[in-house]
Amino acid sequence: MTTEQPREFFDVVLNQRACRSFDQREVDDSLIEQILTAATHAPSAENLQPWVFLVVRDDAQRARVGDLTRRAWNSGGREHSASRLSPEMMKDVDQGAEFGTQEAPVTIVLCGDATIGLDMTLPSSVFPAAQNLLLAASALGLGSTMTTLATMFAQELSTILDLPDSVRPMAVIPIGWPKRPLGPPKRLPLSERAHRDRYNNPW
Ligand SMILES: Cc1cc2nc3c(=O)[nH]c(=O)nc-3n(C[C@H](O)[C@H](O)[C@H](O)COP(=O)(O)O)c2cc1C
Repeated sequence: MTTEQPREFFDVVLNQRACRSFDQREVDDSLIEQILTAATHAPSAENLQPWVFLVVRDDAQRARVGDLTRRAWNSGGREHSASRLSPEMMKDVDQGAEFGTQEAPVTIVLCGDATIGLDMTLPSSVFPAAQNLLLAASALGLGSTMTTLATMFAQELSTILDLPDSVRPMAVIPIGWPKRPLGPPKRLPLSERAHRDRYNNPW
């Protein structure tokens, strides 16, 4: 019993990937609710749970949000990334920025309510929910990507979604069925990022 549960968890966590191409199949509300329930089980400072989820299914609304991502990509994002990303990743990110939000049937805009808790802990209280959300989507076989490009136009995003001033958009996460398998993630070996007792004393 104790081995089965953890294996499932580690299978999910060690294979979670950014998915930027989606097929056209619908995603049931019941799956979105499962994903959001996982998201709301994240930790937050003082357990204040300042996250707010805008689940955008409406085609016109998704297109508006997608336009902001595309605009951010085309007005500096692509140029900034061109020399930093591998050609393979660049192609994928380009596809995601241009078409990802349109292809995925659901876009979740993750926000933080600035009236809840300290300003300083707002992002650190909201982003764990994003991670839970991404993992839950993966566990259900769904693709998702954490993106922040559209938040460059936070005011316009707020207008599209009728957000009050205190609710700040922090991430835009398309969710849908992956068009193709993503393969294992590429990550640095632990020895490059972990230290024992003191910095530079390798793990
Ligand atoms: C804070 C943050 C912002 C990100 N913004 C974007 C984005 O705007 N567009 C995008 O395609 N991916 C974005 N990503 C996804 C990363 O590119 C991806 O998680 C990372 O490259 C690992 O790729 P993998 O999941 O394929 O292993 C973002 C991830 C994080 C954590």
